[in-house]
Amino acid sequence: MSDAVGYDTEGRIAVLTIDNPPVNALGIAVREGIVAQMDRAAADADVDAIVLLGAGRTFPAGADIREFDQPTREPHLIAVVDHLDTIEKPIVAAIHGTALGGGLELALGCHFRVASPTARMGTPEVNLGIFPGAAGTQRLPRVAGLDHALELIVLGKPIDAARAKDYGIVDGIIEGDLRAGAVAFASTVVADGTPRKISSEPRAGIGTPEDHAENIEKYRDLANRRMRGQDSPHQALDSVVDGLKMPYDEAVAADRKRFEACKNSDQSKALRYAFFAERDASKIPDIGKEVAPRDIASAGVIGAGTMGRGIVVSLADSGFPVTVVETSQEAIDTGLAEIGKTYDAMVQRGRIDAAEKDARMARITGAVGFDALADADLVIEAAFEDLNVKKEIFAKLDGVAKPGAVLATNTSYMDIDAIAAATSRPGDVIGLHYFVPANAMRLLEVVRPAKAAPDAIATGMALAKKTGKVGVLARVCHGFIANRSRLPLVREATFLVEEGASPARIDAVLTGLGMPMGPLAVSDLSGLDVSWRMRLSLADQHDPEVRYMHLADRMCELGRFGIKAGKGWYTYEEGSRRPTPDPETEAIAIEVAKEQGTARRDISDDEIRERCLYAAINEGAKILEEGIAARASDIDVMWLHGFGYPRWRGGIMYTADEIGLAEIHDRVCAFHAEHGKQWAPSALLARLAEEGGSFTG
Ligand code: CAA
Repeated sequence: MSDAVGYDTEGRIAVLTIDNPPVNALGIAVREGIVAQMDRAAADADVDAIVLLGAGRTFPAGADIREFDQPTREPHLIAVVDHLDTIEKPIVAAIHGTALGGGLELALGCHFRVASPTARMGTPEVNLGIFPGAAGTQRLPRVAGLDHALELIVLGKPIDAARAKDYGIVDGIIEGDLRAGAVAFASTVVADGTPRKISSEPRAGIGTPEDHAENIEKYRDLANRRMRGQDSPHQALDSVVDGLKMPYDEAVAADRKRFEACKNSDQSKALRYAFFAERDASKIPDIGKEVAPRDIASAGVIGAGTMGRGIVVSLADSGFPVTVVETSQEAIDTGLAEIGKTYDAMVQRGRIDAAEKDARMARITGAVGFDALADADLVIEAAFEDLNVKKEIFAKLDGVAKPGAVLATNTSYMDIDAIAAATSRPGDVIGLHYFVPANAMRLLEVVRPAKAAPDAIATGMALAKKTGKVGVLARVCHGFIANRSRLPLVREATFLVEEGASPARIDAVLTGLGMPMGPLAVSDLSGLDVSWRMRLSLADQHDPEVRYMHLADRMCELGRFGIKAGKGWYTYEEGSRRPTPDPETEAIAIEVAKEQGTARRDISDDEIRERCLYAAINEGAKILEEGIAARASDIDVMWLHGFGYPRWRGGIMYTADEIGLAEIHDRVCAFHAEHGKQWAPSALLARLAEEGGSFTG
């Protein structure tokens, strides 16, 4: 018998321990083990009740996702869960860590559930393009009621043990030793003769779909808004609703078919890819787990502008004491006042209470001058994007910071090797590229200059994890991975306006792919002047053979900086962020096209999609072939978390593989012939297209 599920006894209670590190996923060995050991306990005359728990860090965190790509092997998890109904001795699930997906379904099949106070549980399957396929859609409504079940199943967000107790999902919270507490609970159940609770049995008063029409509509609406374009939340909802109409066995049979269809869908494959891509991003090929990150007890931030403030909040939110420095007391006062407003907004939205706001504010100290940074273990510079300014800052910092401190720049595109060279300790200098707003955006691009010490890089990656972000590593080049791969998309979007497509049409094509906003609306939001200033500062490096963004320059020369100016690619009413198409934009485009000799024409949606998307993919391929990204999936993770690319499409490189690299290469070559050097095909793309290869396979 497999040793994935251990068996021992305490008095007259059998304790079954699932042991399948790291997260006790319910692979075939575990499923077989549970059935076998349950049968053993059922047959053991010296056993009155059974406790089921997980070894190590958690109760099972779900089905083994890696098995989804293999032929399924019996027993299916649903059969395991149903088998528990037939065991006539009480079974108590003892939950710690995270009981997720199939893990929670397994617990629901047990007759009682107890949990550690720190346990979390939920059904996050919709995030993988599936739904709880081991009868969770049938058992959870019977245990927790329809509203709570819909919340967990359709939205996929886990809850803590206290809430699970409120919802009736757990019968007791065990402070202290979980195993001992669960054994005591099981003994009491036996002593009291408490009948087993079988969660597949009908629940009185569960209601009909008509009774719950309002709630069902509410969750459909939430699914549409929060997971736009994604099918699985709707399948999950349909499955729950089926359960209100059919007996358990029939609903489970219907689920089986629906589940297989979901599992085999393109969306689920892309979502599973995204799940593993995020985990792979934390692995750096030449920096193993033996390289320990440096300890960060306190941090400093240089600059209290929008970016600096966001970084300060992110650090303070995660418990770090942080000193923010500015050049004048006035700038400090303004910065701290703005940070206070950010926290006020969190209090207003109910995300934190006033005491928590005070605790976070208390971690933040403002100071004038760099001396206040002398004790910081990590300093993040978030000053003006000017290479000379940054070099000066780092030279000064070098004289102040303590030995071993990690010195990071938040630049979004500059040469960090040059910045590191301004110090006597380039091994300590890294890039930490945050995205606006830095406290809310999950992506952190960790940039690795040539001389950075491995443990300085490990510190950047560890910081991402500690602050709830997804850290992705990039090497140094202009724009690193994120901005460099996105720039061609924005560039093509502006050329398309010059050639005759309207901003609204371009944005509609890209939102049609599932992106939350189109690139031109995003430019209006972030300000057209940001990239304008960058283009001006790099004017002497511009290759005359590469088409230039004259129209974008002209918009800025006319003061059309975007929302903050009331007009950009669109126009905006005072105080509104709603873009309204502006005929003046077209007039400006016609004028610039005339000056540049650009022919204006009808442009198809297909061309808009291909020009924008394929330009980014071609650049992504160059980033990969130059070794700026360690793997294609790192580029994808950046797009998912930095630019809102739909998760169910995996990322731009995954999308490219789906379309086929030969097709992409053909179109890139055609655009190269038509539009010039900026479309030069990546050598890697050409090779993979020729070989029938892929970026992500
Ligand atoms: N299957 C296979 N591998 C899994 C896994 C799963 N369900 N969950 C996690 N892992 C792996 C990860 O890939 C990672 O492997 P590597 O170390 O090789 O990269 C390792 O376990 C540790 O995972 P994390 O790095 O994510 O660890 P963490 O501590 O940050 O998070 C976690 C732990 C909260 C459990 C997180 O891993 C997670 O959310 N896992 C997925 C949970 C989930 O979606 N469950 C539902 C599965 S589908 C299902 O159950 C279908 C059904 O209805 C029958």
